[in-house]
Amino acid sequence: MNRTDFDQICKLLKQESGLILSPDKAYLLESRLLPVARKWKLATFDDLAKALRGNTDAALVRDVVDAMTTNESFFFRDKRPFEQFKDIVLPAMLKSRTDQKRIRIWSAACSSGQEPYSLAMILAELAGKLAGWQIDIVATDLSGEILARAREGIYSQFEVQRGLPINLLVKYFKQVGDRWQITDKLRGTVDYRAFNLLADPAPLGRFDVVFCRNVLIYFDQDTKAKVLEGVARQMPNDGYLFLGGAETVLGLTDRFQLLSGQRGIYGIAPKRAPVAAAG
Ligand SMILES: C[S@@+](CC[C@H](N)C(=O)[O-])C[C@H]1O[C@@H](n2cnc3c(N)ncnc32)[C@H](O)[C@@H]1O
Repeated sequence: MNRTDFDQICKLLKQESGLILSPDKAYLLESRLLPVARKWKLATFDDLAKALRGNTDAALVRDVVDAMTTNESFFFRDKRPFEQFKDIVLPAMLKSRTDQKRIRIWSAACSSGQEPYSLAMILAELAGKLAGWQIDIVATDLSGEILARAREGIYSQFEVQRGLPINLLVKYFKQVGDRWQITDKLRGTVDYRAFNLLADPAPLGRFDVVFCRNVLIYFDQDTKAKVLEGVARQMPNDGYLFLGGAETVLGLTDRFQLLSGQRGIYGIAPKRAPVAAAG
């Protein structure tokens, strides 16, 4: 692949999804896009680059973006954020929302569904305590293909062995051949929608709790800052944001601050009074 083709495809990826690729990732671009080229009956990588120039088929662009995004996810990923959700965030919300009895949760960049289903299982386990409450889980991702997988909720033996306690497997999954499907009841508690984090999230509504984990790492600083600003606009002052283990708001936005004593959970930062002009 020549440098011009690489630069052109990188530009397209950044524009469509925010994904940034450094020149040392040219091998990744080629290995992931060759199957797309084959699917579109394009003989070489150069032909694919050519097809992506000018008046490009939107379906081809979608295939290219889908092929380049990393969908790695697993149930109760990193464990701690889910414990913090159950032990700190949820009890606080149950106290502060006693009037409306409604909590909205957003799993932004939900991939194949393990993150929202982990949250759904926590809520299902607390069903007795949550009687009379409406708790919505909205799960979004850029990729239509991965959302279809999430909605279906079917996982391999390997996937259910990563992070999922056996008692929850028995309770919330049914066996389908050699795979496992989330029960219809639990699947029905997650509302999946296509959403690109580069867009304005206002149409999704307000969210009390946001899981935006392991997606900002793929963006540049400017894009990370814009996404975080958009998320902050959708949250009340007492909302909670969870980021991935390798992600931070530091140096990106002052709209969030780390919750004191709680690694990984962010709250909305209080607005500072404007500094009076000197003189
Ligand atoms: C590594 S997965 C993270 C899944 C889950 N949040 C977790 O922590 O396990 C990243 C997901 O981000 C999605 N993604 C990438 N760029 C996106 C964008 N601009 N808007 C929405 N989702 C995006 C990908 O499709 C992928 O499913």
